[in-house]
Amino acid sequence: MTAAARRQICTVTKRFYITTPIYYANDRPHIGHAYSTLLADVLARYHRLLGYEVFFLTGTDEHGQKVQQAAAKRGVSPQQQVDEFHQRFKELWQKLDVQYDRFIRTTDADHKEFVRSSMQELFDRGEIYEKEYEGWYSVGEERFFSDEELVDGKDPVTGNPVEWLKEKNYFFKMSKYQDALIKKLQDDPDFVQPDFRRNEVLGFLRNPLQDLCISRPRARLEWGIPLPFDEDFVTYVWFDALLNYQSGVIGKTFTDGAQVWPANYHIIGKDILTTHAVYWPTMLMAMGRPLPEHILAHGWWLSGGKKQSKSQGNVVNPLDYISKHGTDAVRYFLMREMVLGQDASFTDELFVSRVNSDLANDLGNAINRVSKFVQSHFDSRLPAPGKPGAAESALRKTAEEVSANTASMVQSMKLSFALEEIAGLVRAVNRYFDGRAPWKLVKSNAPDAREELGTVLYTAAEALRLALVLLTPVMPQRGRLGLAMLGAHEEPTADHLNWGRLSGGEALSNPEALFPRIETKPDEEDPAGLLDFRVAEIISAEEHPDAEALLVLKLQLGDETRTVCAGIRKVYQSTELPGKRVVLFANLKPAKLRGIESQGMLLAADAGAGPRLVDPGSLAHGTRLGFANIAPQPKAKATLKDFEKVPLQVISGQIRYRSAALGAGGVLVSSEAPDGTEVR
Ligand code: MSP
Repeated sequence: MTAAARRQICTVTKRFYITTPIYYANDRPHIGHAYSTLLADVLARYHRLLGYEVFFLTGTDEHGQKVQQAAAKRGVSPQQQVDEFHQRFKELWQKLDVQYDRFIRTTDADHKEFVRSSMQELFDRGEIYEKEYEGWYSVGEERFFSDEELVDGKDPVTGNPVEWLKEKNYFFKMSKYQDALIKKLQDDPDFVQPDFRRNEVLGFLRNPLQDLCISRPRARLEWGIPLPFDEDFVTYVWFDALLNYQSGVIGKTFTDGAQVWPANYHIIGKDILTTHAVYWPTMLMAMGRPLPEHILAHGWWLSGGKKQSKSQGNVVNPLDYISKHGTDAVRYFLMREMVLGQDASFTDELFVSRVNSDLANDLGNAINRVSKFVQSHFDSRLPAPGKPGAAESALRKTAEEVSANTASMVQSMKLSFALEEIAGLVRAVNRYFDGRAPWKLVKSNAPDAREELGTVLYTAAEALRLALVLLTPVMPQRGRLGLAMLGAHEEPTADHLNWGRLSGGEALSNPEALFPRIETKPDEEDPAGLLDFRVAEIISAEEHPDAEALLVLKLQLGDETRTVCAGIRKVYQSTELPGKRVVLFANLKPAKLRGIESQGMLLAADAGAGPRLVDPGSLAHGTRLGFANIAPQPKAKATLKDFEKVPLQVISGQIRYRSAALGAGGVLVSSEAPDGTEVR
């Protein structure tokens, strides 16, 4: 090898090893399991995109009482049980497009051997001792609990009954490492994330740490890895399971020769925080092995306010959603909707609204608009850009910022926020497109109209290309299809995260419906259906002669004109309003305001600095607005009481009623007010 080649290899220092929990092979995977793995997959893909060499490990936890009992219940051997059930996870990962490097099973020969040698090592180092033990044992959690830990005499985690057990067992001297672990958590604040989980662990460590029972008598539990120093016992399932993170990559190196262990990230759910943030690091300390860099605990997917779990009977089957709406929509929803660390709700309504607004209306629509124009006016070849104007430079700046922000947010695990940024970029493209109105340029006879049209289409395509590259880790299939529809056919890499990758002349692949709208049966009972929201254009604006806060506006709605008194004088000058399009609550019962009849009310969002009118985008005056899933049946005369039953607020730049956004024909009303601002 030449020195240059060696230097080249040595410069590959960006390595990333990420793991998921290994799932019990006794159950069908549900959306909670799917989430942990998808999160790891998305993070792995982002790191690959950013130029990291990645190793991604997932698998199944196949020993222990749960599996033995599940097998006995079905009348099969534990081995048959796990051979069958681990397959369900593999199949799901394939359907969800999860690209792992190894699927480890704790029944794999190399894992079993590694567990035995690790046990022997601990035993030889004097870290394991034997003791007669009695206590409350929970079958579900496979561990003993002290009197204080029980809640109402029951397992504090599952609420199931516990049984009193007395037996000889082997113990790991975990207590010895209490101080070292506290020090680690204090010195390295990013070790356990998010921060409040780290505090939870530190809180737990304020009480004396017990030694850990790491064996189960074989007489009681046959299905496990026998202890190398006493074959009458098998290894406690958590001791066996945690070691997968190391056994899964034993002897494996990155191309620069560095060992894959230690992991950069262990992705886990908050339910298994103690085992990962207390048992696992102390085990590694006792064996003198390096600790993982970060442990990241995410929240739970809830439905009906409860954790999704089989025992609650409220599990969402990811496969149902995949077969109905496609893998990428499910991946997007899960990543977008859960703020890392917090719990989130999975409901059909939220799913439909998120997919329809972000993917069908915003992203799908933007790609379609650009590709259709290129198809009809440039023979499906992307035009080269002419000189950029102010709007082009502004969009480019937004796109470059979003690209840089996404990279840093992903590296600091702010995934849902990164997706929000990208969604903001897509909305900016739609606004740019509306503002530059290529449909007008097509009809224009001006000498440079065609060049300008080319510039607009190129700029919109390039900004969307960046958004799509940034979305490929979340939506690997649709993202690539979308890219091809804009003429970007290469596999995305770190080089594609900069502006200007498209140069013009690229052939666009045929347009297709990337993100079909999910149509649902409209609700005819909803109070929002009683309100008539319409787009109006302001013709004139004057100050109210008798009220300081009010402006008197003349509005055009289709063929109709109206007079409305609006309390917006603090924010708007009467001269800036004519020509502006606004949203009118049009069937509000007319009322006299200081002598002038007001025929409706304008919608505005007030984030503290006074009411700012919401923006109906490109929609024409007269257009009737509504919410997806809600059947319009406006009352002849609605009241403010009716309006109050429909609380509106700004979320992600849209005007939302619960999870539905206000709009018409795929175009949504927008506001620049921050999330949570009330609209009235
Ligand atoms: N086998 C152990 C983990 C051993 S890791 C060395 C285990 N397995 S499990 O099958 O119960 O899966 C647990 C993981 O699934 C949780 O930590 C979490 O990551 C995920 N989830 C299970 N239900 C969940 C939700 N309702 N919501 C989100 N994730 C949850 O524990």
